[in-house]
Amino acid sequence: MTEIFGGAHMTIVVVGSINTDLTIRVPHFAVANETVLGHGDFTTTQGGKGANQAVAAAAAGLPVHIIGKVGADAFGDAAIEDLRSTGIDCSHVTRESGHATGLATIFVDPKGDNSITVAPGANARITPEDVQSAVKLIAEASIVMLQLEIPLAAVTETIRIANQHGTIVMLDPAPATMTMPEFSGVDFLTPNEIEAETLTGIAATAENGPQRIIAELRKRGARQVALTLGGMGCCISTDEETTFIQAQPVQAVDTTGAGDAFNGFLAAALVKGLAATKAAETACAAATLSVTRAGARTNLPTWDEVQAFLGA
Ligand code: RIB
Repeated sequence: MTEIFGGAHMTIVVVGSINTDLTIRVPHFAVANETVLGHGDFTTTQGGKGANQAVAAAAAGLPVHIIGKVGADAFGDAAIEDLRSTGIDCSHVTRESGHATGLATIFVDPKGDNSITVAPGANARITPEDVQSAVKLIAEASIVMLQLEIPLAAVTETIRIANQHGTIVMLDPAPATMTMPEFSGVDFLTPNEIEAETLTGIAATAENGPQRIIAELRKRGARQVALTLGGMGCCISTDEETTFIQAQPVQAVDTTGAGDAFNGFLAAALVKGLAATKAAETACAAATLSVTRAGARTNLPTWDEVQAFLGA
């Protein structure tokens, strides 16, 4: 059983990206030098892996703080307003004049699969000093959540501070284009199959792929690994056991943010006291429900919806 909560305040802190998402539904993804005519109007929604995970953890019922940066622009205003409207504490979100708020262009195909390109903007300005200014929040939190849409120096400083204070570290190594050579100090590493293959060179579909990936990531320092496998579910490897959790089949409309729903609910379920394997079941159900609706955040289920889906 993973112990998380001794003396902590049952809060979650996210150190991560805040983006505006511009989404176009397309018949297929463009290849180099091709122009694709999409369907209808584009949509503007709030996103960013950090912000999405914060909102998912809040949707699961936990108090959440986010540490991040947006530009001194209208996108930044809207991003902060939206996060506040979900109850997230934004007192450590600062404005970076001279840089734009992070922006993601997202293409979604008829299968619901996505292709995302991010202009990091202000997210790339998050420094170790920004993280240090929130040391008390991190020290008092149950879990700190990280992704790789912000500079590695801020990520490693967060891990250092969290380890020093006994706060559990959950790292989603996304996007796959950012790499970390090792994961010591990470209590839960949560790659998807693409990130896992980039990190290890092992395809999840290869013989014993998930097990080999997990063994390799644990060898590189990750204490526990939750490998997400899209519509197939996930594989969680804890200190005690490795379990494959099969996702319930659903009709996917939009897979954008499914990993964020997974991470937010995994963290929330752990803080609520579920053992890691049960927490991963909850997270997998949340991600499954999220793909049945459009958007990276507008699609999030509540804790009760997830429990009902699980038949609990
Ligand atoms: O995981 C989905 C997110 O990735 C989107 O919201 C986009 O902003 C990118 O960060």
